[in-house]
Amino acid sequence: MSYIKCRDLKLGYDGEAVTEGLSFDVDEGDYLCIIGENGAGKSTLMKALMGLNKPMDGQIEFGDGITRQEIGYLPQNKDFQRDFPASVNEIVLSGTLSKLGWRPFYGRAERQVAENNMKKMEVWELRKKCYRELSGGQQQRVLLARALCAAGKLLLLDEPVTGLDYKVTCEFYGLLSELNRSGVSIVMVSHDLEEAIGHANKILQIGREQVFFGDKDDYLKSESWKSFHNHHVSHVHAGEASQCTPAGHISGHGAAKRAEEPVKHEAYDAGYKGGGGE
Ligand SMILES: Nc1ncnc2c1ncn2[C@@H]1O[C@H](COP(=O)(O)OP(=O)(O)OP(=O)(O)O)[C@@H](O)[C@H]1O
Ligand SMILES: [Mg+2]
Repeated sequence: MSYIKCRDLKLGYDGEAVTEGLSFDVDEGDYLCIIGENGAGKSTLMKALMGLNKPMDGQIEFGDGITRQEIGYLPQNKDFQRDFPASVNEIVLSGTLSKLGWRPFYGRAERQVAENNMKKMEVWELRKKCYRELSGGQQQRVLLARALCAAGKLLLLDEPVTGLDYKVTCEFYGLLSELNRSGVSIVMVSHDLEEAIGHANKILQIGREQVFFGDKDDYLKSESWKSFHNHHVSHVHAGEASQCTPAGHISGHGAAKRAEEPVKHEAYDAGYKGGGGE
């Protein structure tokens, strides 16, 4: 059984569908990257997975003993109140709520988890500050630390690197890969195609309907990728070089294995140059 199994999901608001026909699985160890145009319904899908909005149709099933409480969730920047009146420490600690069980107060273990994650995301020095006084990038790191506190088995990230500087972005992707190798499954919405796809093993592309779901290697050979990439990467990256994974952008996760299969690089490079060189 998968951690999450979605079948024929239809999502929308006020009786009007945004996207439909979504059928995909998230398995143990997966690193699933969700891509699509602005307004395609990616954040809506993440919220549906977290139980924050109700599908108009279809099923979301959880398996393998996972519950929503064990999922770390990082909402898209615009969905979290930027002037939230709490300290950094309180916000990060609240990520451990599911670990409290019946106890009404945070204990030593929760504080330690929060401390470790604040240090990991380099916000430990800011812990006594009020969240609303931080810069956008600092706020994002606080929310990431919070999501990491909850992520026992699965992490859902909605555009997690928005607002992060180059150094923290690279470290963050490194951290995600590490978490993934240690057994945490990752589901990430991203417009940062190079890096996101580079690290993923599965891709879900959505539009009004599901465009693609499957292995990254198959996606990189597909027409869906070519056309999406040609339309978007040139605008998003405007000729930028790779950010954090120097040699092959698609070789971050399981690099050695995939590097032996040149056709994937060709497919990727063809798309990339085609999009960026115009
Ligand atoms: N609470 C809401 N009520 C009504 N419509 C909404 C609500 N939230 C989002 N929408 C609409 O649903 C559609 C999908 O929004 P969503 O935020 O899921 O897109 P997205 O793929 O995450 O886009 P982006 O890449 O810009 O983050 C959009 O047309 C949006 O205006
Ligand atoms: Mg969104």
